[in-house]
Amino acid sequence: MKVAVIGAGKMGRWFTKLFKNEGYSVVVCSRTKPKLLALKDEFGIQTADSNIDAIKGADWVFVCVSLDALEPVLKEIGPHIVSGQVVLDISSIKEIPVQLLHKHVKNGTTLGTHPVFGPGAKSLGGQNFVLTPVTEEDEKFAKQFRAWLEERGAKVSVTTPKKHDEYMSMVLGFPHFVGLVAGDTLAECPDFVGAKQVGGASYKMLLTLAEAVALEEPVFYSNLHMSLPEMEKIEGLFLSKVEEWLKLVKQKDCSGFGAKMQHVKKRLKELDPEYEKAYNEMYRLLDDTDS
Ligand SMILES: NC(=O)c1ccc[n+]([C@@H]2O[C@H](COP(=O)([O-])OP(=O)(O)OC[C@H]3O[C@@H](n4cnc5c(N)ncnc54)[C@H](OP(=O)(O)O)[C@@H]3O)[C@@H](O)[C@H]2O)c1
Repeated sequence: MKVAVIGAGKMGRWFTKLFKNEGYSVVVCSRTKPKLLALKDEFGIQTADSNIDAIKGADWVFVCVSLDALEPVLKEIGPHIVSGQVVLDISSIKEIPVQLLHKHVKNGTTLGTHPVFGPGAKSLGGQNFVLTPVTEEDEKFAKQFRAWLEERGAKVSVTTPKKHDEYMSMVLGFPHFVGLVAGDTLAECPDFVGAKQVGGASYKMLLTLAEAVALEEPVFYSNLHMSLPEMEKIEGLFLSKVEEWLKLVKQKDCSGFGAKMQHVKKRLKELDPEYEKAYNEMYRLLDDTDS
């Protein structure tokens, strides 16, 4: 099995290591040559001078470039893909990338995928992996690739690109937004570090989210955020909810606050019968509860 990886960034490196450990022949090409050579030294893989050279004879072509580079790369390699080759992208959004795969790859098979984990993952074991086939040909390969992933312990979901992007607005965009706004708020409170000494589990959770999100790369996060279709809707709803809660606080309306909290609790339980389990698990991990 020969795999070409285009893009030697964080995820390209991760997939290079994965395929190398599988014993596959791996050839990598990327824009910045020192990064590519570092990968060659580390994993003993082959490197190519151009993206077109990299894909020659590859069974699978994994396109691991940033979102803004996806179309130029697919435009470049698309005409050189031959029948029997499969081109996969790993972008964190799926509607636009899957359209681009089909626009530029006329021969061979394509598959939109999203590994829903970062480069810190130790293996595929237990990780969510989403596949978004849109044609019969995509679906045929998706079945095969699903089996490959599941043999290695990944939890695979198959859905449409549109549904995937709606989920990601909730799964990635919303927590990123809450984390960024929380970090921005804490940054205006000089005592936030000192408060750690007296903080309980809720504060640890908030800080973990705010600091983890703030550590990420601004270009990746802003590209992702602006591309997710439901973000303005979710953030608009969030803002109106902030106003509702703030009004109760300003009015010192204890009973209103309590009733609203009961309502949220009831709705969450109705919609997600397992929600208390998740709550208990989180506090168990933090080895703590709030008092
Ligand atoms: N990071 C995550 O946690 C994560 C998780 C799941 C999926 N993803 C998806 O994975 C993709 C890559 O993300 P990443 O975090 O690995 O980004 P990254 O670290 O910025 O890596 C992207 C790589 O692509 C290279 N590149 C850009 N244009 C190129 C071109 N024309 N030809 C060849 N290589 C080119 C870049 O080269 P330079 O080194 O010159 O910039 C860089 O090495 C994105 O679509 C992202 O949505 C990311």
